[in-house]
Amino acid sequence: MILVTGGAGFIGSHTCVELLNSGYEVVVVDNLCNSHKTSLERVEKITGKKLSFEQADVRDAVALDGIFSKYHIDCVIHFAGLKAVGESVQKPLEYFDNNLNSSLVLCDVMKKHNVHNLVFSSSATVYSGDNKMPLKEDSKTGDCTNPYGWTKYMSEQIFKALCVADPQMSVVLLRYFNPIGAHESGLIGEDPRGIPNNLLPYVSQTAVGIREKVTVFGDDYPTPDGTGVRDYIHVVDLARAHICAVEYAEKHKGCDVFNIGTGRGTSVLEIIKAFSEASSINVPYQIGPRRPGDLPVCYADCSKAKNVLGFETKYDIKRMCADSWRWQKNNPKGYAK
Ligand code: NAD
Ligand code: UFG
Repeated sequence: MILVTGGAGFIGSHTCVELLNSGYEVVVVDNLCNSHKTSLERVEKITGKKLSFEQADVRDAVALDGIFSKYHIDCVIHFAGLKAVGESVQKPLEYFDNNLNSSLVLCDVMKKHNVHNLVFSSSATVYSGDNKMPLKEDSKTGDCTNPYGWTKYMSEQIFKALCVADPQMSVVLLRYFNPIGAHESGLIGEDPRGIPNNLLPYVSQTAVGIREKVTVFGDDYPTPDGTGVRDYIHVVDLARAHICAVEYAEKHKGCDVFNIGTGRGTSVLEIIKAFSEASSINVPYQIGPRRPGDLPVCYADCSKAKNVLGFETKYDIKRMCADSWRWQKNNPKGYAK
């Protein structure tokens, strides 16, 4: 059985679909601080299979201990965490507490219950800003520009140190690039609280009429059209990467790290154009100033994931936008009807 922390969230819910479809049993632990239980009901609807749900905070050692006693856990996928870059600057202690203590408590309880396999949600944000593109797993890390980034960087250090101390441990660190899209059913997707910080939810909320227009953060970058370039990956592809990582964790010991992206960069204007085509709505936008801290270009070298995990993406930007739009159109207010 796979224990999925944060399984009710955006990436977690899509991963639960892939796990159930691959024949795994799943128990989700989530405190629902940034998600709705409805997402898990939708996962069951999509797959026609049941999962177990325990509403608990991963930092609650007593609750977690009880969950590890109740279920036979073979591997943990640890998604639970806070992820808003701007909020982490305003509330650093909340971010360090949630993201680091959840990892510490989880590892402690895993050790007590002899569970040795872990897949962790890391981020491209751990890379330093002065690297050459594409980013490789051995590109320079650190020099994070916000507390959220530091929590991912520090969590990676915790897992690496743990694997040195305990040779039975197997940890797979996945550094996600920019996950977008939604399940093709239109039943699950990204449901951000308040005004979205990320490009795709902002574009899709503009298309559906919740926001007036998209502000493009800068058109004077040294990129082909002057706007920022990112490596967008379909969330269903990203979810599939976790299946490869779970399989790898089973046969591998120690700590290993993989970029999970497509290896291709797409600009902000290309995204707005692709989304406009997918939705048949001309998404209005205006050019604004650069957002502090943004890199001009960020994309992955994905050869390690391909060669070692056997993972390759299937979906292009057109499909990512079409699936995002289906979710947004069918659920204009997200899970809260
Ligand atoms: P999300 O907010 O949709 O999902 C996170 C889930 O964790 C939520 O359901 C939330 O309720 C839960 N949670 C948070 N703290 C918890 C705690 N202490 N105990 C129990 N549950 C808790 O976010 P997501 O986009 O699905 O991201 C999943 C993971 O991937 C996060 O760790 C995030 O930092 C990482 N990540 C996300 C992105 C991205 O762009 N979405 C990029 C890189 C890395
Ligand atoms: N952008 C806009 N307008 C918006 C929002 C974003 O023009 O309203 C631009 C940004 O300037 C950037 C691109 O769209 O060029 C993508 O921005 P996102 O905020 O969607 O994504 P980022 O690459 O900035 O950040 C994401 C995650 C972070 C993570 C980082 C690196 O949100 O959590 O990738 O992995 F740290």
